[in-house]
Amino acid sequence: MSQSDPRLIAALDLPSTGDARSLVQTLGESVSFYKIGLQLLPIGGMDLARELKAADKQVFLDYKLHDIPATVEKATRSIVTAGADLLTVHAEPAVMRAAHTGREGSDLKILGVTVMTCYDDEMLEEMGYGFKARDLVLRRVEQSLEAGIDGIVASAQEAPEIRERFGNGFLIVTPGIRPAGADAGDQKRVVTPGDAIRNGSTHLVVGRPINAAPDPAAAARAITAEMAG
Ligand code: C5P
Repeated sequence: MSQSDPRLIAALDLPSTGDARSLVQTLGESVSFYKIGLQLLPIGGMDLARELKAADKQVFLDYKLHDIPATVEKATRSIVTAGADLLTVHAEPAVMRAAHTGREGSDLKILGVTVMTCYDDEMLEEMGYGFKARDLVLRRVEQSLEAGIDGIVASAQEAPEIRERFGNGFLIVTPGIRPAGADAGDQKRVVTPGDAIRNGSTHLVVGRPINAAPDPAAAARAITAEMAG
């Protein structure tokens, strides 16, 4: 069994594009969708994205853009040139509207990062927000849909309530995935691949369970099997 599941996104959280290319080669047909984040974007990540697209892979560029609308719009237009499939921005209305305008005419889908999972209620209060984390997540999902973007990044614990309140017409991309019995690492609230899909996530972002596995391709195939089950 070597076929990939396009709902599985392997995070290329590695120190160099050379390491990332090796992992992509090792994974072969077991993975068809890759996330390139802030670690690689400044050191050749965009060229890597173009290469992956030329090799018929899907690419998620995890920029988490957050700037004035004019800059977000122009940055999005620049990012579109790589031909990537997904781009993250912070889920603030003006930022999301600007990214939505910037990607016009392309196939790039925009995801809103609602509330980063490193923030708890106390930290949000310290930052001046008048919402608890759960309420701010739900408010920002609503604003993402109002802005016309394609989906959100959310934990698998948040997904059922988000689906219940806002329906099924958008992407939920979920990190914090651990196969049954795997080490959680620094992730606090981990969910298995099967539970995440059942909870309403459309895509799973998996980093260390694949990129630190002794046999990454076997790990990816096992996760794919768990998603199907
Ligand atoms: O190694 P692991 O599977 O924990 O990696 C998860 C990936 O998802 C990393 O690239 C991490 O930056 C990203 N991510 C996350 N939690 C969020 C948003 C993104 O773990 N809330």
